[in-house]
Amino acid sequence: MHTAPHFDIDMDALWHDPYPQLARLRAEAPVAYVPQLDGIVFTRRDDIDIWEKRIDIFSSEQPGGLMTRLMGQNMMRHDGDAHQSQRRAMQPAVSPRAVQRHWRAAFREAAVRVLDELVPQGQADLCTDYAMTLSGEALRLITGLDNVTAHEMDAHSQAMIDGISNYAGETDTEARCLSAVAALDAAIEARLDAFAASPPDPDSIDGVSVIAVLQRAGATHDQILANVKLVISGGQNEPRDAIAGGAWALLTHPDQLACLMDGTVGWDRAFDEYLRWMAPIGMSPRRIAGSAEIGDVKITPGGRAFFMFGAANRDPAHFTDPDSFDITRDTRKHIAFGAGPHFCAGAFAARALVADVALPMMFERLGGLRLDPGRPAGFGGWAFRGPLTVHLCWDYDRAENTAGKTADREEKAR
Ligand code: HEM
Repeated sequence: MHTAPHFDIDMDALWHDPYPQLARLRAEAPVAYVPQLDGIVFTRRDDIDIWEKRIDIFSSEQPGGLMTRLMGQNMMRHDGDAHQSQRRAMQPAVSPRAVQRHWRAAFREAAVRVLDELVPQGQADLCTDYAMTLSGEALRLITGLDNVTAHEMDAHSQAMIDGISNYAGETDTEARCLSAVAALDAAIEARLDAFAASPPDPDSIDGVSVIAVLQRAGATHDQILANVKLVISGGQNEPRDAIAGGAWALLTHPDQLACLMDGTVGWDRAFDEYLRWMAPIGMSPRRIAGSAEIGDVKITPGGRAFFMFGAANRDPAHFTDPDSFDITRDTRKHIAFGAGPHFCAGAFAARALVADVALPMMFERLGGLRLDPGRPAGFGGWAFRGPLTVHLCWDYDRAENTAGKTADREEKAR
């Protein structure tokens, strides 16, 4: 039961460009019932900031929900102590300390390898040939799944994401998701067996991986399977989209890119502004478990709610000229990583990967980088949103790119 106004959404248009409809919702009906989603949709930044923390009313436990049903019940589908204890168990793998001691350097090595392959090509689709590969390599390291390739990581992640946002109930999409889940469960179990037979040093790369820290913390078999898959479904496409989409945004704003290249503005600012401007996770769902009055809207238990991070990040109450991309703006109020207890556990690792490694290194290595004018980029999605293709060209001088130069650059990047 609720008294929220009905607001119809054109789902096809939402996928192509969600922002015009989200702006109307935010202005006209910030807490609305959207029949096409069969849920109460929140679009104002401050409403989400307040109500996402009220886990007594907006619960993450969704037993019949797509994620729980298809991927198992991970920490993101628990509230309170059950959530916090699983989050704590994973923390050593994704903490600022782990990023500082292990991940940043390992990401740099991976980026050097990917760029060494890429540079001589002189052109590429940045989404598949760099952003996807590098995100997949980073996830192999963080999860401990050295028995899954970067390409498999991306394919499995995408299949799971498609499955858990399959509100239309397409059977093929569900089947692909279940097959990715089965492949990943088998790979995780193989690594669990290997670590049980020969436990890795807790201060080694393997020892700080998600699988190893959960195993050491005594997490149950089901918890490990579910939470490693959560990291894969939540940790692949978001950095991938921030890398490829961020590069596109900078190349279409050359004055802003120049500020990054001459060091006037730091890469962190570009990362945050991209996340604000084009939130890779546009929405987080909840089950309505309690009663509340939100302005003049009353809700009672039953049904679901959607927190629209993508809309919140363009709320004019907090961001001037919110649709424009501007790395010099104050982005501190963006909530692209969430605004409650489920705030992204991988935020430090994501920042290291995108802002410290992927973006600066590609602009450093790919001289004369430019968008391919014959193949314009496209973006898609609303629950998860990012670039579909970003075709780029750059200048390649074979003499300039000897192995010695590469080693020099790698050293310099450190
Ligand atoms: C730019 C990159 C990323 C973005 C924008 C992002 C965004 C988010 C968002 C919006 C949530 C849900 C927050 C909520 O409902 O309040 C989330 C949760 C989560 N993310 Fe990320 N994420 C990113 C990268 C990563 C990476 C690289 C990892 C893993 C290494 C990761 C692991 C997780 C986990 C485990 C959760 C669940 C946390 C919990 O339930 O307590 N994310 N992320």
